[in-house]
Amino acid sequence: MDDKQDMSWAQAEWLDSLDEELEMEIDDQLMSPELARELAFISELKHKSTVERQVYFHELLRLQAELVKMQDWVQHTGYKLVVIFEGRDAAGKGGVIKRITQRLNPRVARVVALPAPTEREKSQWYFQRYVPHLPAAGEMVMFDRSWYNRSGVERVMGFASHDQVEEFYHDVPEFERMLVRSGIKLVKYWFSITDQEQQLRFLMRIHDPLKQWKLSPMDLQSRVRWEAYTKAKEETFARTNIPEAPWFIVEGNDKKAARLNCISHLLSMVPYEEIPHDPVKLPDRVFNPDYERMTL
Ligand code: ADP
Ligand code: AMP
Ligand code: MLT
Repeated sequence: MDDKQDMSWAQAEWLDSLDEELEMEIDDQLMSPELARELAFISELKHKSTVERQVYFHELLRLQAELVKMQDWVQHTGYKLVVIFEGRDAAGKGGVIKRITQRLNPRVARVVALPAPTEREKSQWYFQRYVPHLPAAGEMVMFDRSWYNRSGVERVMGFASHDQVEEFYHDVPEFERMLVRSGIKLVKYWFSITDQEQQLRFLMRIHDPLKQWKLSPMDLQSRVRWEAYTKAKEETFARTNIPEAPWFIVEGNDKKAARLNCISHLLSMVPYEEIPHDPVKLPDRVFNPDYERMTL
């Protein structure tokens, strides 16, 4: 294969990645003219990212390549990583998680997004249903919402009693310290968006048939109970921000900047190094007359 051909293939691969990201972007940004008119009342809408599209693609692909190196190191060294993604509804947790896992091995980098607890689970120790999802050696687990449901949605919506929430606040630092002592690296992100940005994102979801599934009754309540969520968030930070596992706040209004910031921060939290490998060579095909007959 000559260099020129090599280059054009690499370029085609790159363009392919770009298309993939564009597909996801279109899903995020598509707005019908009717919707645009309806949303015109939000006059100071700055819905342009501060990150230029070309810069964003370039940086995202670079970070995703680093994530692959990190995955390799995690697997090689038997590291255990837990990343918690919390924040208001529509803050962009899902979008970041998608881009982190996009180029990783789903057996190494798993996503856990648990549904509401069943009656049986409700009768268990609160942390019990999360524990089976914790990583074994060489795994990283991303929690799309986590045990912090207790001090978030469950507190605000009244699914948990005052005593249960108090017990949670008391237990969670101990629980997390235990995880860290056992050798798990625990990173906690809080995705933050403004009131107005959440309103806009919900409106876009209401009007887009591809996105309507994302809008749950819980989401609608999170508009109504904005202040209660604010209080819950403040108390959560105050009572669960431990040195072993502090909270990191991701400014989420600008989706592209939020994704790049969060991924590059995550990379900075793991002391990975490039793992040297012997070059891989594709094996030659062995002619097998029996097999050839079978496939004819
Ligand atoms: P998401 O925002 O993650 O797409 P929802 O908006 O439907 O999902 O729910 C928000 C969170 O509230 C989820 O983590 C879900 O498990 C939790 N939840 C929903 N209903 C209940 C309930 N009855 N008891 C406890 N947690 C609940
Ligand atoms: P508030 O934060 O006062 O708007 O209350 C929102 C909901 O959370 C109400 O159902 C409160 O009873 C409940 N709540 C407020 N503070 C706590 C707390 N420290 N522990 C448990 N539940 C609480
Ligand atoms: C997000 O955008 O934060 C997630 O998709 C969660 C949600 O559906 O609200």
